[in-house]
Amino acid sequence: MIDLFKSAARKGLFLFDPETAHGMSIAALKSGLVPVCKVPSDPRLRQMVAGIEFANPLGMAAGFDKNAEVPEALLKIGFGFTEIGTVTPKPQAGNPKPRIFRLVDDEGVINRLGFNNEGHAAAFARLSAIGGSGIIGVNIGANKDSDDRIDDYVKGIRRFYSVARYFTANISSPNTPGLRDLQARESLSALLSAVLAARDEEALKSGRKIPVFLKIAPDLTEEGMDDIAAEALSHALDGLIVSNTTLARDGLKDQRQAKEAGGLSGKPVFEKSTVVLAKIRKRVGPDLPIIGVGGVSSAETALEKIKAGADLVQLYSCMVYEGPGLAGDIVRGLSKLLDREKVSSIRDLRDRNTNYWAARNV
Ligand SMILES: Cc1cc2nc3c(=O)[nH]c(=O)nc-3n(C[C@H](O)[C@H](O)[C@H](O)COP(=O)(O)O)c2cc1C
Repeated sequence: MIDLFKSAARKGLFLFDPETAHGMSIAALKSGLVPVCKVPSDPRLRQMVAGIEFANPLGMAAGFDKNAEVPEALLKIGFGFTEIGTVTPKPQAGNPKPRIFRLVDDEGVINRLGFNNEGHAAAFARLSAIGGSGIIGVNIGANKDSDDRIDDYVKGIRRFYSVARYFTANISSPNTPGLRDLQARESLSALLSAVLAARDEEALKSGRKIPVFLKIAPDLTEEGMDDIAAEALSHALDGLIVSNTTLARDGLKDQRQAKEAGGLSGKPVFEKSTVVLAKIRKRVGPDLPIIGVGGVSSAETALEKIKAGADLVQLYSCMVYEGPGLAGDIVRGLSKLLDREKVSSIRDLRDRNTNYWAARNV
C-alpha cells in the first residue's frame, strides 16, 4: 500500500500545494475513494486508557480533520481513534496562505495555519449526526481575538460534552500568539481548574465522566516540565498529549523551507517529542495516561513511543508522505513486533526505554 501510494498518488498530490492536497485527501475520504482497511483484531493491542477501551493504540492526531468531516472514514482505515479539531467557539479564517510547507528531504511539515476552523456549531452538528461506537476525541482551543481564552475552553467542554469520547485542551499551538503562555504554572492552574470544574458539572448532569487531556509543546525547559507535571497531578487531569509541533529547526536538510515560520512536525520532531514524553513520564509516575505524538512513521517508531512511556500514540505528518495505508500498516506491524517481543499485551512494553530517552537532551 505504501509503495503504491509513493509511486502514484503521492506524486499526483505533491503537484498541488500542501493545503490543496489536504483538501483533496479529505474529499477522497468523504467520497469513500480511500479503500477501507480492516485491521485484524489483536487482543494484545487492546487496552483500557482513561476509562476508554481502545481496540488498538494508534490515533489520528488533531489538525487533520479540524471540522469533523471524516472521523468515521479515518476509523475505517485502521486508526483505533481519531481527534477532531482544534475547534474554537467562533469560526476563524486563520493566517494568510500559503501556510503549510513540505520539507520533502526531511519528511517534515511546517504549518502556521492559526486554528482555521468552522467553529463549534459546525463541528457539533456533524458529530451529532454520527452514530456508532468509534472513539472520537474533541480538541478544543481559543479564538485568536478572544477576551477570555479560558472561557473558550470551558465553552468547548460544554458544547461537545454529549458527543466527545474524550477532550483535549490544546494550549500548545505555536500559531496563536500567546497561547503557549497558558502552559506557565499560574495560568495552567487557572485553566485546569475552570475546564475540570465544567467537566465535573457536566458529568453530574449526564452521569458520564468524559476524560480531559492536555496537549503540550515539545519546546519546554526542565522547570516548565516540572510545572506541567505538578499541575496535571494536583488537578487530577486525565492525561497528557506529548507533543504538538516544535519551533526548533535543528538538523534540517531543506534549509529553504526551514526558514518558514510555524510549527515543525513529522520525522524531524520524533526525537525531541519522544525525549519530552519520557521526561514527563518520569515526572508524573506510572498511572497518568500519556498519548505520544510527533514523527511516528512506522510500527517501530510507534512502539518506541510506547517504550518511552506512552499508553497510546498519534500521527499526522508522516501520512502526508506515506499515504492513507500507513495506519493499517502500523497496526499490523505492531502485531508482528509483539510476536517478536513475546508479550501478551503491548502495555507490557510501556516504559521499557523511558530511562534511555529521559537521559537525552534536545
Ligand atoms: C497541518 C497541521 C495542522 C495541525 N493542526 C493542529 C491543531 O489544530 N490542533 C492540534 O492540537 N495539533 C495540530 N497539529 C499538530 C499535530 O496534531 C501533532 O501534534 C504534530 O504534528 C506532531 O505529530 P506528527 O509529527 O505526527 O505530525 C497540526 C499539525 C499539522 C502538520
